[in-house]
Amino acid sequence: MSVIVGLDIGTTGARALAVDESGMVLAAASDEYPLYSPRPGWTEQHPEDWWQAARNVLAAVADAVPGQVASLGITGQMHGAVFLDSEDRVIRPALLWNDQRTSAQCIEITDRVGRDSLMAIAGNPALTGFQAPKLLWLRDAEPANYKRLAHVLLPKDYIRLRLTGEFATDASDASGTLLLDLRRRNWSAEILDALEVPREWLPPVLEGTEAAGRLRADVSSELGLPAGIPIAAGGGDNAAAAVGSGIVDLGLASSSIGTSGVVFAHTPELVADPSGRLHAFCHAVPGAYHLMGVTLSAGGSLRWWRHILGERYSYEALIELAASAPVGSEGLLFLPYLTGERTPHSDPLARGAFFGLTARHSTAHLTRAVLEGVAYSLHDCLEIMTGLGIGVAEVRAIGGGARSDLWRQIQADVFGVAVRRTAVDEGPAYGAALLAGVAAGQFRNVEEACSVIRLRPEVAEPEPSRAQLYRHYRGAYRELYPATAELMGRLGELATGFHGSDHAA
Ligand code: XUL
Repeated sequence: MSVIVGLDIGTTGARALAVDESGMVLAAASDEYPLYSPRPGWTEQHPEDWWQAARNVLAAVADAVPGQVASLGITGQMHGAVFLDSEDRVIRPALLWNDQRTSAQCIEITDRVGRDSLMAIAGNPALTGFQAPKLLWLRDAEPANYKRLAHVLLPKDYIRLRLTGEFATDASDASGTLLLDLRRRNWSAEILDALEVPREWLPPVLEGTEAAGRLRADVSSELGLPAGIPIAAGGGDNAAAAVGSGIVDLGLASSSIGTSGVVFAHTPELVADPSGRLHAFCHAVPGAYHLMGVTLSAGGSLRWWRHILGERYSYEALIELAASAPVGSEGLLFLPYLTGERTPHSDPLARGAFFGLTARHSTAHLTRAVLEGVAYSLHDCLEIMTGLGIGVAEVRAIGGGARSDLWRQIQADVFGVAVRRTAVDEGPAYGAALLAGVAAGQFRNVEEACSVIRLRPEVAEPEPSRAQLYRHYRGAYRELYPATAELMGRLGELATGFHGSDHAA
């Protein structure tokens, strides 16, 4: 039997899945690593921690299916910058997707390339989380480190380098750098020139299903995996998760609640959002594209809230508590902008809030408000999509948040569409395994690979009276950010010492 393995380098940890040809998960392993925030708005991780965790989880699944692994696919958190010197040594901790330190560099990129050219070539405006502004930040803030720079990689591609000794990336993840020409699915000479970024710093760009390196003999013996197996180019975690949940056709969208929350829709052609609020990126499906909206703190908001409560509650107990509060949390709103926000506000200085507190509100109300606030924010993304003519008939819930019946039902009621759940909800690792199956020739293409995906029987349908109530709450939620944005900006500037008046985000 041939087994395919998917590896996900996530924000809280690494996860590996071993999957057979029928799509059954045979083994799974995960391992966590820390996230550092040395200053407000900064987020960093040590690539060496990713590598140690990747080794642990790969060795664990290899042990469960000895000698049977035919190929490996990799995916991971997008946008991060791993800076390497000419001997492939890590120069400094990696800057992550939710790092907000690059407002000044976003302004510079917009000035140098021009907003219209950025939109036309890279499909997106300059956003603080993307990789290109991180490169310019290194130039500005750490010139000695910048001088040593020989390569910059996305997180999963650093792990590929350790596994195979080769530099490569895939078009979906490369889209999140802001350096890719989305139509040509290759680096944009125009943007690289404008930003003075040498082409040699960047890896070759492949399609997600192409083999990009083979497992090195020394690593394979250590991990217990067969030497020389192909490593699929893979995808950014959202594109891989979309493959893993079957979002490879029009009409379907996924809503993923991990640390971030993502609403993702497949588009056969490139559809850029002229307002720049949704990201337009290449898909991990060769030649295809996608639109996605990103809530930076989705599961991250619930994790934060649990931490604030002293971790006295398990996630299950928290959800049970939330279920005891009424729809709308008795007039309490939560803005999930704990690490700034991308969609729809593109504002690194946006801040979270509980609004509408009264003495009647209890932990149950506040917890439910967190779940509802995240769902309102995901709905904001969905609504921009439908405004661009991307009809969504069904949403597939994935990520840790999909495991909660209540959170799925809240999403169905807030979105006004049915929410289903895939049998395997570790979307990114599962999708990476399916891409590996295509790379190894087990499946002819991604569509055939996706035919193994099974849906769970339960469907959360919107309930009309709750959906009606949520329409009113959504309206109030939507007014809260514009009413407080200026004040949030001032608070953010006070806290971070950034005093740009017209910051890009
Ligand atoms: C997508 C994004 C996040 C990360 C988290 O644009 O920034 O979803 O990929 O893993």
